[in-house]
Amino acid sequence: MKIGILSSGGDCPGINATIRGVGKTALMHYGMEVIGIHSGFIGLLKKDIQVFDERSLSGILNLGGTILGTSREKPFRKLLASGDSDKPRIIKENYQELGLDCLVCIGGNGTQKTANLLSQQGLNVVGVPKTIDNDVWGTDITFGFDTAVNIATESIDRLHSTASSHKRVMVVEVMGHHAGWIALYAGMAGGADVILLPELGYDINKVNEAILDRARRGKPYSIVVVAEGIETPNKKQRPSDYITKAIEEGTGIETRDTVLGYTQRGGNPSPFDRNLATRLGGHATELIASKQFGRMVCMHGNHVASIPLSEVAGKLKLVTPDHDLITQGLRMGVTFGQ
Ligand code: F6P
Repeated sequence: MKIGILSSGGDCPGINATIRGVGKTALMHYGMEVIGIHSGFIGLLKKDIQVFDERSLSGILNLGGTILGTSREKPFRKLLASGDSDKPRIIKENYQELGLDCLVCIGGNGTQKTANLLSQQGLNVVGVPKTIDNDVWGTDITFGFDTAVNIATESIDRLHSTASSHKRVMVVEVMGHHAGWIALYAGMAGGADVILLPELGYDINKVNEAILDRARRGKPYSIVVVAEGIETPNKKQRPSDYITKAIEEGTGIETRDTVLGYTQRGGNPSPFDRNLATRLGGHATELIASKQFGRMVCMHGNHVASIPLSEVAGKLKLVTPDHDLITQGLRMGVTFGQ
């Protein structure tokens, strides 16, 4: 068999470990041919590829980013909007011309949606979920998330000492798109006093009351973790900027703002993410070898599994208010803005 691998959407730590997991299992265990497709679906539109051998997949396990490059190209976007696009046809032709028996699509929600549409067009496709946001429906966890939580937690740890020295409120904004997973996990791991998640909403007066209450109890500093996806009155303003100004105005306590940004998705994957990516990558190749196409590999608890791409497409996995980390945080005095 001959398989093609591409990574699409925002990069994240662990993609190279996945490429290696898929590719080495295919080459060494199943004797398949493997090609890498550059820059996501752009590479498939232009037949921009490289041939992988075992050597070219060595030394990449701990590398951040993706050796294949990535893009946010969505070949079905125009077709879905206006019913007119050549891209799906070109991709189908190139898939055939390249002699592929299956396409492995490593990506987040948008990529899995495209993978499902390609599968509906008759291509053999297997999806591998990736994103620091942890918001892909159908899998308990995505690689990249653990690394991002580690980076965000270390930053929150560092903000504690400067917050306490200056008796300030420190607001830190973390990524997550529409989901609050990074904010919840890094906030709780970093001992934040206030955590604001898009899924829960918040009342800024409750946030200010909690901060003033801490000050009255002899704790004149606070750490506030804000997910980038929370609502603010002005859509053009960064959530952390709005929250910082509203806290300073509402409490009179000096407040500073830190946006972690792309540091959360750059650099080496954590050991946990390397192993997760390796397991998911290996399972993707197993699915191909047994001709189970149109599926996305996933984690159910600590088990590697797979589900139909059609079940995943178009859905988001969000934090639910009954998450036990929220319940536990509330019991221990963390404010979620309610
Ligand atoms: O999905 C990963 C992510 O890093 C989000 O957390 C963030 O909102 C977005 O990508 C940023 O995307 P871009 O690379 O397009 O700036």
